[in-house]
Amino acid sequence: MIGIIGAMEMETAALAAAVENKTTEVVSGVTYTSGLLDGQEVVIATCGIGKVYAAICAQTMILRYHPTVIINTGVAGTLTTALGIGDVAVASTLCQHDMDTSPIGDPIGLVSGINKIYFEADREVSQKLAACVEASGVKAQAGCIASGDQFVATAEKKSFIRETFGAIACEMEGAAIAHVATVNGVPFAVLRAISDSADGDATMDYLSFARMAAARSVSVLRSYLQSL
Ligand code: ADE
Repeated sequence: MIGIIGAMEMETAALAAAVENKTTEVVSGVTYTSGLLDGQEVVIATCGIGKVYAAICAQTMILRYHPTVIINTGVAGTLTTALGIGDVAVASTLCQHDMDTSPIGDPIGLVSGINKIYFEADREVSQKLAACVEASGVKAQAGCIASGDQFVATAEKKSFIRETFGAIACEMEGAAIAHVATVNGVPFAVLRAISDSADGDATMDYLSFARMAAARSVSVLRSYLQSL
């Protein structure tokens, strides 16, 4: 079974609507829709915005559905000139840009206990997703995606995240899903279409382009499922 998580309805509704032999279950306020999508057994959830909701959802999905892989689909802000609005970032790694215990001697971003800054996405799944992006005529870029409980909308924050972590895109859930998946030994991938510039123009961009970008990520994910 393939687990699919998006933060918002616009990132998941079209997927859940297309599921055949559908079963739904609500746990902790999140609806899990399972069944067949494009010939694959899937479970789909809309987790809510931010790292805590994403973690609750990923852990619940793992314990109740035992997915062989979890794929996070949705939108992101760009941190690089290599990714414009409508292009797609595929995570090679994920980090948490708002994790900071540096005053007590750690590097910024270190997740204590497992002592990781970067969580590695599944290489094979990520490469196949990137190939599906390119096959649809859209630019794909692999790299670090940074998550935090902030909508990034200033040039200062954008350059801090890019320079501190070498990240190419920012969003609010991917690294939490990566963290939960890693401690449970479950492979994961993160696919994010760019909705905004993550700087002073981000709010306007997001309002104009988030729906288009969310639909693009959904369509890539479906072509990935069809390719399996
Ligand atoms: N998701 C989409 N755009 C974003 C941004 N600029 N910051 C955080 N999450 C986002």
